[in-house]
Amino acid sequence: MIPEENFKEIEELIQEDQELLAGVKKALESIEVAKSLGELGEVRIDGLGRKGLVKRVFDAIKKVEDKDRSKWGKAGNLLKQTAEEMLALKEAELEVGEREKEYRDEAVDVTLPGRAPIRGKRHILSQVTNEITDIFISLGYRVVEGPEVEEYYYNFEALNTPSYHPSTSIQDTFYVKGSEGTDERPGEILLRTETSPVQVRVMSSEKPPVYVISPGKVYRRDAVDATHSAMFHQVEGCAVDKGIHMGHLKGTLEVFAKRMFGERRKVRFRPHFFPFTEPSAEVDVSCVVCDGEGCSICKGSGWLEILGAGMVDPNVFENVGYDPEEVSGFAFGMGIERIAMMKYGVENIRLFFDNDIRFLSQF
Ligand code: DAH
Repeated sequence: MIPEENFKEIEELIQEDQELLAGVKKALESIEVAKSLGELGEVRIDGLGRKGLVKRVFDAIKKVEDKDRSKWGKAGNLLKQTAEEMLALKEAELEVGEREKEYRDEAVDVTLPGRAPIRGKRHILSQVTNEITDIFISLGYRVVEGPEVEEYYYNFEALNTPSYHPSTSIQDTFYVKGSEGTDERPGEILLRTETSPVQVRVMSSEKPPVYVISPGKVYRRDAVDATHSAMFHQVEGCAVDKGIHMGHLKGTLEVFAKRMFGERRKVRFRPHFFPFTEPSAEVDVSCVVCDGEGCSICKGSGWLEILGAGMVDPNVFENVGYDPEEVSGFAFGMGIERIAMMKYGVENIRLFFDNDIRFLSQF
């Protein structure tokens, strides 16, 4: 606000020069409406500066008659005082405003909930692998690992797999270049097609008893689809001791199925063939979705296949230097992706390998 009394007085004092008076009014008004400290600085120069309005009022003193001099002097002083007061007030006002704006811009709402940092976690397949191995560790098994680039001998021959078995062909198995074999076999070095060779490696280097579990990657020349991948994971298990029989295998897998899929699960053995076990079985667990009633997931049967198993073939024992008259044992192998798909209702194996965080973060 322009102080009215002051202005009236100035008006009276310099009424002879209406143009100057208009300038004075405009200058005081521009103090009033200044929006920023920067703008106010310019306004200050216009009013109080060396070429400013106050100076013009004082300059006028020299031109007016003697009797009017004190009047003009008074007007000049009053204008100067008024402008300074107004500037000081305005400056204080703008400073507060600008500080408030600064505070507002820099304000931190300490009541807002914090943003949690994104935490990494184990891949779902690692989680399931650990779940499986933990169960067997609790039963007294030891975790061992074997090479992914394996010898034909361990992958097939020592496991009693004849060279005419289709799995040995180059259509089914990745052979390593430069390891060309004989007429009998396509190559000496290959990417292992199963984790079973690890049992041969362990038995070849250790005396019984053996209780081992071995997770890892395996490779097959499969076309990729919803349930097949050229690389996937298996867990192999093997128990060799005196007096081991099929009942031990069944009991062990029952414990595993219940711990892995829930207490209500039942286990069923279906006769099957594997070169390295005799007898051999495919093992099913009662459907995790319908509980055995029959649904689209178990194709109405009420059962889901979870692994292959059997009693270790005497030929395998002979290959590793164990006496089949003295020891016996069972072995089993399961696909980790398959177990994970069943347990968590995942419908496409590719999801495990796409590494899409939206999928992985669900587990
Ligand atoms: N190696 C078999 C496969 O890849 C799984 C398997 C079956 C492993 C029976 C075993 C076994 O140890 O006894 O399908």
